[in-house]
Amino acid sequence: MGDLEGGSNKNLGDGPQYQQFSSRNVVKILVLFSAVALSILLLYHSSSYPLQFFTNSSYKPGNTTPSSIAGNLLDTANVSAQRTQPLTKLEEVLEKAAMEDKTVIITTLNAAWTAPNSIFDVFLESFTIGNQTKPLLKHVLVVALDQTAYSRCLEKHYLHCYALTTEGVDFSGEAYFLSDDYLKMIWRRIDFLRTVLQTGYNFIFTDADILWFRQPFAHFYPDTDFQIACDHYWYDSFDLDNSPNGGFNFVKSNNRSIQFYKFWYDAREAHPGKMDQDVLNMIKHDPFVKEIGLKIRFLDTALFGGFCEPSKDLNFVCTMHANCCIGLENKIHDLTMAIDDWKKFMALPADERMSKPQIWTVPRICG
Ligand SMILES: *[C@@H]1O[C@H](CO)[C@@H](O)[C@H](O)[C@H]1NC(C)=O
Ligand SMILES: *[C@@H]1O[C@H](CO)[C@@H](O)[C@H](O)[C@H]1NC(C)=O
Ligand SMILES: *[C@@H]1O[C@H](CO)[C@@H](O)[C@H](O)[C@H]1NC(C)=O
Ligand SMILES: *[C@@H]1O[C@H](CO)[C@@H](O)[C@H](O)[C@H]1NC(C)=O
Repeated sequence: MGDLEGGSNKNLGDGPQYQQFSSRNVVKILVLFSAVALSILLLYHSSSYPLQFFTNSSYKPGNTTPSSIAGNLLDTANVSAQRTQPLTKLEEVLEKAAMEDKTVIITTLNAAWTAPNSIFDVFLESFTIGNQTKPLLKHVLVVALDQTAYSRCLEKHYLHCYALTTEGVDFSGEAYFLSDDYLKMIWRRIDFLRTVLQTGYNFIFTDADILWFRQPFAHFYPDTDFQIACDHYWYDSFDLDNSPNGGFNFVKSNNRSIQFYKFWYDAREAHPGKMDQDVLNMIKHDPFVKEIGLKIRFLDTALFGGFCEPSKDLNFVCTMHANCCIGLENKIHDLTMAIDDWKKFMALPADERMSKPQIWTVPRICG
């Protein structure tokens, strides 16, 4: 499941940014406050299409959507500059985050998921204890769905942060699995990822409840437009009957993938109340996908596993997803155990590590 549902968010509003009122913080708060005030003014004055975002990089001045303005303002508060170049901030942040081949690692986060000691911290920790995954952190783009998540991202200076706000929707708190807000958040993300493709960047999308323990690149299929992890893998990477999981995928930017993301996003209207992953399962056999020639393959859970189907040997695992697990507290519990498993594995002498398959102690609460 590609899931952003929050559980308890009792820590919200209690983050470090609210605890010390140094003059620097007061200035920061004033700047943010005026940015919010300005964006409200702009929202009030702007017309139509509140849910159409960054639809085309050849955007005309004056055709700016409220959300892109709000996103940009968080950084610069320069209205005149942003009005004439609404895409600059996204292009800029993609350029900074991207690897040489124009690939970015993207995750989306809200306040509940970035609260101290929440999913965000576990996610980041995995990169630092993984095998050669630490250098990847500088290619991570955090797409913040609310102000708190954005501030929490900015605190981590090695990350790239982008504010993606939606008029009239508050994504900050608990968004229970398959609730209206949850679905809006999920679909907002698909639409955003299409924009990234259209801007010319490939992406690895990763849910933040996925631990990264090894670099994935050597295991990606060449010459493939869309490759996606699975809840359950049926031992054939071409088999459309695999159960894809929207939480982890690698997508190359080209006409086929852009068309596919548009098709996927539009298909939500024919399937109200369904999440992206369910709709993907409905459209993956659609003749249109064949027609546009999208090359789609599925990643093996032995490498890109999760609590639904854990990889069988830590000697090979790249990522570990808290899928088949509902509730923030449950996810944090079992992901923390997975982190401990990994630390123990890495502490073993090399010959012992490789002498036999090394297995997980998770899922415990999840699964
Ligand atoms: C963007 O818009 C221009 C004209 O408005 C159009 O020619 C072009 O095909 C569009 N690009 C995409 C990727 O939709
Ligand atoms: C805002 O942007 C405009 C146009 O890029 C620039 O001329 C102006 O100096 C900027 N103002 C501030 C306060 O940065
Ligand atoms: C870490 O990566 C290096 C280089 O790929 C490899 O030689 C080493 O065996 C890896 N260590 C583990 C624990 O997988
Ligand atoms: C997309 O297709 C158009 C023609 O249909 C072509 O001109 C353009 O180069 C293609 N763009 C990419 C990125 O493949």
